[in-house]
Amino acid sequence: MAEDLATLIKTGLKTRFIGREIIYLPSVTSTMDAARDEALNGAAEGTVIIAGEQTAGRGRLKRRWLAPEGNISLSIVLHPDTKNLPYLIMIASLAVVKSIKRTAGAAGQIKWPNDVLIDGKKVCGILIENEMRGNNVAYSVMGIGINVSLKVNDYNEIAQTATSLFADRIVLIRALLEEFDVLYQKLPDGNVIYKDWRNNLVTLGKKVKATWGKQIIEGVAENVDEDGALIIRGEDGTLTKVVAGDVTLQ
Ligand code: BTN
Repeated sequence: MAEDLATLIKTGLKTRFIGREIIYLPSVTSTMDAARDEALNGAAEGTVIIAGEQTAGRGRLKRRWLAPEGNISLSIVLHPDTKNLPYLIMIASLAVVKSIKRTAGAAGQIKWPNDVLIDGKKVCGILIENEMRGNNVAYSVMGIGINVSLKVNDYNEIAQTATSLFADRIVLIRALLEEFDVLYQKLPDGNVIYKDWRNNLVTLGKKVKATWGKQIIEGVAENVDEDGALIIRGEDGTLTKVVAGDVTLQ
């Protein structure tokens, strides 16, 4: 059974790098840990780890990520150039938007930096963990979690803010890997990816509250840099660049 899911996804998978190797783990703490282990053992570019369930799924800012059986929980091992690191999050969120459109007909929007929303509620979270050796990337692990057939009302912590898709998990994963692969191959020209990502951001032009560390700023999300940073115009007219943090739409 374990091989079956990986084999089913690979059947007819049209990719050059992503998912040429797929490892399915019925139950794992986090696919981030399993993918890191694979990377340390020399896993090829694009190796994908998929979990049946995660018992300790993690999100950004040390948050817990709910990932029961039925959800999509996967991590991809990548070996990007350091200069391309900012584009990876853009590629992942765009691949999610394109694949849920293609397979479920759903219109996803990206909330800076890397949440995908449907009708204002979160359907997907993305986490990247990079291991640097000097100035080079030893490996990156790209984690993607998509809520599929998840009864969000059963979980108090996400009941108000999350949503879930009805979709064929295998078809959606295959589409996701294919969209990721196409975008990843565009990487020498990151500007194309940046523009596509920018066009899909729901955040721009909205009143936002951004928090990072102990800092809070309120204002209008005016733009995003090509390195992925959010530029907020505060009420006093000053511009602040937010590189990492949490943003709520007001
Ligand atoms: C977030 O929104 O905070 C990011 C959530 C990332 C969840 C995915 S599920 C697959 C991978 N394994 C994890 O433990 N986390 C990521």
